[in-house]
Amino acid sequence: MPFTPDHDLDLLFPTEHIPADVRKQLPPELHIRPLASSDYARGHLAILSVLTVVTDPGEAAWRAQFDALRAAPRTYYPIVIVDRTSDRIVAVGTVFVERKFLRGLGAVGHIEDIAVDKGQQGKKLGLRVIQALTAISENSGCYKTILNCSDSNIPFYEKCGFQKKENEMAKYAPTDRAHTPRL
Ligand SMILES: CC(C)(COP(=O)(O)OP(=O)(O)OC[C@H]1O[C@@H](n2cnc3c(N)ncnc32)[C@H](O)[C@@H]1OP(=O)(O)O)[C@@H](O)C(=O)NCCC(=O)NCCS
Repeated sequence: MPFTPDHDLDLLFPTEHIPADVRKQLPPELHIRPLASSDYARGHLAILSVLTVVTDPGEAAWRAQFDALRAAPRTYYPIVIVDRTSDRIVAVGTVFVERKFLRGLGAVGHIEDIAVDKGQQGKKLGLRVIQALTAISENSGCYKTILNCSDSNIPFYEKCGFQKKENEMAKYAPTDRAHTPRL
């Protein structure tokens, strides 16, 4: 599949939000950009499956989720790195902006769902994704950017400039209720 330039894509947010210095540090065969409405066909879910269990909902449902994210403006910033030679996605990550009533109506950036294709790990793509997301968070006015990770990934996030703070707590919904919204 030939590489599709940004101007031929329907992007979730303006491409200018991704800093030029992060762009410049990628090898020439790779391109970083916002998630596009056609990225289901570029292996978006396959890359996420590097991280956790992914159930394929089908293209129409994937697209409805894309539209739901875009319907909340200045909130969701999913980005991808694409291999220009194949037009396939090789790395993904998201930051979403939580607006608060405290800290003078402050905002916090939450980094989620970072994954790099197994064949491309160790080439600083994870670092570039985190640098881009952190810049988007800070340029959105967030006073901090936070994420959860396994112990084994702590050294990676330390290399990205993060430090360990506090603990994560989780309570999973009963499996029969997990996908049935009541509100
Ligand atoms: C974790 C992950 C995102 C890292 O991406 P990556 O592109 O392989 O990492 P990078 O090449 O950008 O690494 C940047 C630095 O962190 C180091 N690093 C990366 N992963 C590491 C790890 N698990 N332990 C120790 N150091 C690590 C690299 O050696 C590199 O160090 P250097 O600057 O001294 O050379 C990637 O391995 C991945 O997708 N893993 C599976 C999914 C996952 O766990 N996602 C994170 C969910 S919280």
